[in-house]
Amino acid sequence: MASSGTKTSGGAEFVVIANRLPVDRVVAPDGTTTWRTSPGGLVTALEPVMRRKGGAWIGWHGAPDEKLRPFTHDGVKLVPVPLSETEVVEYYEGFSNGTLWPLYHDVIAPPAFHREWWDAYVTVNRRFAERAAKVAAEDAVVWVQDYQLQLVPRMLRELRPDVRIGFFLHIPFPPTELFQQLPWRRENLEGLLGADLVGFQLPGAAQNFIRLVRKHTGHKTHRDQVFLPDGRVVRAKAFPISIDAKGFEELARTPSVVARAAEIRESLGNPKKLVLGIDRLDYTKGLRQRIRAFGELMSSGALHLDDAVFLQVATPSRERVASYKTLRDDIDRLVGRINGDIGRIGPQPITYLHASYPREEMAAFYLAADVMVVTPLRDGMNLVAKEYIACRYDDTGTLVLSEFAGAAGELKQSYLVNPYDINGMKQAMLDAIRASPKEQARRMKALRKQVMENDIDQWANDFLGELEPETHTMRVRPV
Ligand code: G6P
Repeated sequence: MASSGTKTSGGAEFVVIANRLPVDRVVAPDGTTTWRTSPGGLVTALEPVMRRKGGAWIGWHGAPDEKLRPFTHDGVKLVPVPLSETEVVEYYEGFSNGTLWPLYHDVIAPPAFHREWWDAYVTVNRRFAERAAKVAAEDAVVWVQDYQLQLVPRMLRELRPDVRIGFFLHIPFPPTELFQQLPWRRENLEGLLGADLVGFQLPGAAQNFIRLVRKHTGHKTHRDQVFLPDGRVVRAKAFPISIDAKGFEELARTPSVVARAAEIRESLGNPKKLVLGIDRLDYTKGLRQRIRAFGELMSSGALHLDDAVFLQVATPSRERVASYKTLRDDIDRLVGRINGDIGRIGPQPITYLHASYPREEMAAFYLAADVMVVTPLRDGMNLVAKEYIACRYDDTGTLVLSEFAGAAGELKQSYLVNPYDINGMKQAMLDAIRASPKEQARRMKALRKQVMENDIDQWANDFLGELEPETHTMRVRPV
C-alpha cells in the first residue's frame, strides 16, 4: 500500500543504497569507458537477489561534478548519484570521513565538527533518499548501507511510507560517551530510526545505540526494540558480516594463483617465514604499532632476516584527508628507517607496497604468507582476516588478530593481541611464526569452520529474513 506520489511504476522491488556504486570505471587507451564490478563481497552476495527481484543499486560513482544516467551492468540496474567537488570535500571527506569515521573509531584521530560539513551531509543524504523514492517499486525492500547515509532511512520513510527499510552499519558504533560529542547526535539517531531494522556488526554496538536512543530521543525501548510515537517498532540487532568464503577458496585453488604465490615467495628471497599485512592505509589499522613490533623483533635479534620477512600491502585511501596524508608520511619514514638500520643487500626486512591489487593477487598474497597480522586499533569487522582463513584450505598458516577487530569475537583460535601493547604483540608474532604444523592445523581448522559456515550469503539471508519475516522471499542463495 503506497501513499506517496513520488514513486514511478515498474520500479525496483529490492533497492540497495550505498555511498559507492559497486563498480569501478575502466578507461581503455582509446578513451572508451567500461565498468568493472568492484571486488567487495556485498555485491557478490546481493547480485543474485538483485537479478531475481529486478533490483537497483543507488550510489556515487567516485568522480566529482559528473552526472551519469542510470545503466545496467551484469544484470543489475545502477543508479548514479552525482556529487559536486564541494560535496566531495564537505560530505565525503568532511562529515563522513573527518567527523563520523574518527568518532566511531574510538577518536583515534580527533574528529572535526564543522557546521558546513553537516549541512552538506544533510543535502547529500536527501539526494540519495529522493533517488531511492523514485526508483523503488510499491512495497519494495530498501537496504541502506553504512555511516555515510545515516539520515536516509528517515528521509526515505517520509517520502515513501510504503517501503520496508533496513540499515546496516559496517563500522563500529561508538560507546555512548563518545557518540554524545556529536552536535547533531539526535538527528543522526532519528535518521536511523526511520528504518524498520538497524543492523550492527556486534551486539555491544546495538546496545550502545538503544541506550543512546533512550537518552536522547525520549522514545521508549525494551531490549532490542524502540517504540516510536507513530506506533512503529524499530529493532536494533547484530549481524556480523562475512565474505564470499567459497569464492576465495576457489580462487586460492586456481593453478595460476598457486603459481603466483610461489613467485611472490621467490621474489622475497624464499624466506623461511613470510609475515603479511594487508590493509587500507588508514590510521585505524594499527600499522605503526605492527611495523614497530616487527622492527624491534629484528633489531633486538629475536628474529633474524633469515628467519622471516614482512610484506605490508597498504591500499591508498582518502588521500586528500589530512590525517591520511600524515599517516602515509609516518609509515614511509618508519619502514625506511627499519630497512636502513637492519637491511642488507637483497630482500629487505620489510617490503612495503602502496597500491591496490585485484582479488587474484590478494589470494596469491594470502596463499604465500605463513603468518597474517591484522592489528587494528578499532575495526567494525575486518574482512581481510576472514579472507586469509578462507584461502588456507590446507590448514596451514597462523593469524595474529587484534582484540579490537569485530572479527575477534568469532575468530577465537587466532593469536589475539592488544595492538597498543607492543611487547605483547612481539610475543604473539613470535608464537605465530614458531607455531608447529600441528598447532597451526589445530587452530586453522577451527577458524575455517567458523568462516566457511558463516559466509556473506548467510549474513544477507539473516538480515533480509529479519527485515521481511512474513514474506521472506529475498533469499540470496540456498544456504
Ligand atoms: C570501509 C567503509 C565503507 C567504505 C570503505 C572504503 O570499509 O565501511 O563504507 O566504502 O571503507 O572507503 P571509501 O572511503 O574509499 O569508500
